[in-house]
Amino acid sequence: MPAPGAGGNNRNVTARPSLPQSLLHDLRAVVGDQHVLDDPGLTASYETDWTRRFHGVASAVLRPGSTEQVAAVLRSCYEAGIAVVPQGGNTGLVGGSVPRGGEVVLSLARLDTLEAVDPVSAQVTAGAGVSITTVQDAASAAGLQYPVDLASRDTATVGGTIATNAGGMRVLRYGPTRQRVVGVEAVLADGSVISRMAGLAKDNSGYELSQLFAGSEGTLAVVTRARLQLAPATPARATALLGVASVEAALSLLQHIRHQLRDMDAVEAFFHEGVELVCRHTGGSPPFDTPPGCYLLVECAGTEDPSEQLATALESCPGVGDSAFAVDRAQQQALWRYREAHTEAINAEGIPHKLDVTLPLAALPEFEAVVRDRVAEAAPGARPILFGHLGDGNLHVNILGPEADDDRATDVVLRLVASLGGSISAEHGIGRAKAPWLHLTRSPADIAAMRAIKDALDPSGILNPGVIFGLPGDHAAGNG
Ligand code: MLT
Ligand code: ZN
Repeated sequence: MPAPGAGGNNRNVTARPSLPQSLLHDLRAVVGDQHVLDDPGLTASYETDWTRRFHGVASAVLRPGSTEQVAAVLRSCYEAGIAVVPQGGNTGLVGGSVPRGGEVVLSLARLDTLEAVDPVSAQVTAGAGVSITTVQDAASAAGLQYPVDLASRDTATVGGTIATNAGGMRVLRYGPTRQRVVGVEAVLADGSVISRMAGLAKDNSGYELSQLFAGSEGTLAVVTRARLQLAPATPARATALLGVASVEAALSLLQHIRHQLRDMDAVEAFFHEGVELVCRHTGGSPPFDTPPGCYLLVECAGTEDPSEQLATALESCPGVGDSAFAVDRAQQQALWRYREAHTEAINAEGIPHKLDVTLPLAALPEFEAVVRDRVAEAAPGARPILFGHLGDGNLHVNILGPEADDDRATDVVLRLVASLGGSISAEHGIGRAKAPWLHLTRSPADIAAMRAIKDALDPSGILNPGVIFGLPGDHAAGNG
């Protein structure tokens, strides 16, 4: 049964598609009239993604207040064959959390209960709508930490970061969100609820569905609560910003400090093109008089001040040019601002095409050396800005200039990544933005296995249609 609101790109749908009256009546009865939104002034922020590149008109925005309400909504939509787009903080960057046109948007924002931290297991149970900052603050009040950390921490939610298996700045040491998830409660397309919230360190009773749902981008189930593993606190931090000649030099430095730094938390990279934009946006000045080939931000964190550890390791490192060491929290934040402000500075310049790729570390220098030229050839006038999580081999290639539906630059970048053995999505997901390129790094057998799982759990295809797999008729726009 094809789900209404699931066909085609529907990029031009502007009038609000209406839901069957009986369904609307049921949905209002479940979540309450005030939580069924259809006034454009109220729905707009749910219908456009953070980059403004992806948007569509929802048939309604629903704001359930409990798992039971989520289950009842999905049961009704399943029976009526209405497509549903689950949404957390709507900070996603691949068009996976906004409608194409006609779907119901299911906002999980009201599922914002955070239970007390369990200090014995160092775990906490959080509703899907709890922000990452709120989890981090609760962990830190209990003498622990929640190490998933990303610039959108104040708005990004537990449910959204699980759905996308969000990575962020500290994957190098702690892994992505998936590694923090020790259980989920989730509602399947037909409204049945699966709960695996015991937080057991060992539990081999069949398939590990919590892990399957992590990174499934709302296509298999709607996560309503999660049990998260916290980590020991590392309150003492040392941060340095370094200039090195090239990505190759940055990798030599990484190799050197990996063995020397016990407490290495983050190794981030960016380039002069991004620093210029950030400074224009923040009104600040570049950190060094002469722009280096590559900026590296290195941070260590532990229970005791790691400053000496960091300084000693860097002193013996070949190839370090200019450097700035932060001696207090304010200086650390100032150094991080050069890196974290990239996203907002780029968005302030225009609507970017956001690519998020991983390369084998050995292939990073070649990728960085040629990618700007490849973009220039494919889309003259396009402006690529590179930054990212060098320690993970994860670069964000943001491209300003091409129209929202002109994917020529995207196409060359993703093909280059595939030819170098990388992945077309490191931490943002496939969403609908990358779906036409999934075949570059996943074989037909692999895609068929993923589709079989999707079809088994969501036989009508009502959950986030088009995300990951695309829809018939989708293609790489601007590329034939
Ligand atoms: C980041 O690393 O800052 C995030 O992934 C956001 C982005 O790519 O813009
Ligand atoms: Zn990132």
